[in-house]
Amino acid sequence: VIAKVLGERGMSNLRKQIRDILGQIDIAVIKKSSLNKLREEAGRNNGASFKQSALPEGTEEYLRADNPRLQELRSRYANHPAADHSLWATEFLDRELKLPYFRGDNAYVFQTRRATEASYILSAYHVKSADKLNLLSRLQEDDLFGNFTFNFNDELTVSRDLLDSVMEINFLDQEIGITKIPDFTVLDIGAGYGRLAHRLVTGLPNVRSVFCTDSVAESTFISEYYLRFRKVDERAKVIPLDEIENVLTNNPVQLATNIHSFSECTLSAITWWLDLVARHKVRYLFIVPNNKEFTSCEKNGARSKFLPEITERGYRLKASRPKYDGATSVQRLGVFPSEFYLFELSA
Ligand SMILES: C[S@@+](CC[C@H](N)C(=O)[O-])C[C@H]1O[C@@H](n2cnc3c(N)ncnc32)[C@H](O)[C@@H]1O
Repeated sequence: VIAKVLGERGMSNLRKQIRDILGQIDIAVIKKSSLNKLREEAGRNNGASFKQSALPEGTEEYLRADNPRLQELRSRYANHPAADHSLWATEFLDRELKLPYFRGDNAYVFQTRRATEASYILSAYHVKSADKLNLLSRLQEDDLFGNFTFNFNDELTVSRDLLDSVMEINFLDQEIGITKIPDFTVLDIGAGYGRLAHRLVTGLPNVRSVFCTDSVAESTFISEYYLRFRKVDERAKVIPLDEIENVLTNNPVQLATNIHSFSECTLSAITWWLDLVARHKVRYLFIVPNNKEFTSCEKNGARSKFLPEITERGYRLKASRPKYDGATSVQRLGVFPSEFYLFELSA
């Protein structure tokens, strides 16, 4: 109505007057469409999103909240001490995860929040030069299940899934030579949709098994589906929470990994997992926390430090370094900078 009364010129004057008045108190008005574009360019989208890529046949039919397998896992996990959740409560999952698009920017792997196409390209240059194992040329990437991918010089398709996995595997090889240990066996705690397990067994022929475990029923359910879909489930095995003790008793593992997971757990859940790895004498523990303070996430929002819990169980820091080691600019501006920490159980 106002536009009709004032006409185009009047509207333009009105906009100018509003801008002038608000400008005096340091406020700017911006069109919603322009704001969204700016947010996108700055990589500051706050919510979950996914690439509208096609889904493989049968995905939507299987990955449903009412799937009996998911219901079964939920009831099996309900009262387990490691499933004493804070952040990973039902509301978080409802908001952050659309089951069929589990590889989108969501609770598992932030991709377009806090990162732009430019940060992907910058990171890809670094990863390419740091990838001593040449994994980038051997591992493939696609946009299935909502994954955001970026074209790197028409040479490679990259994503956070791929770049992070390549850096993590190279770090583990530099520190403990995982490519040279015959029948290497890994336990991935808080394995998400199976990202690292998929990359480890595809990239390293000497890896006999990666056991993926988790206290969130949805993660077990999705990773079972994903690793089966990638046809790596003979070596990348998903172990439900209530079976992990038994599996470790019969299958010793040399390395346990925990990537962006303990930081999202309560201290009581973390200590349950640390007791498990110490009891089974897992030699190496690789942790990528969400911050350098190694803080947990408690139900009341408090944060407790879990580093002392690691050392109290006999683990000593063997190595640590930034994800984009030796490149401070990439560590500042690249995709999701973080720190790698490797602990070793004292003899
Ligand atoms: C941010 S995601 C990271 C997933 C995966 N590690 C990766 O890097 O792709 C956090 C993971 O921690 C798991 N998680 C949350 N609470 C947990 C708990 N109490 N015990 C074990 N895992 C938990 C979630 O289910 C999810 O798989």
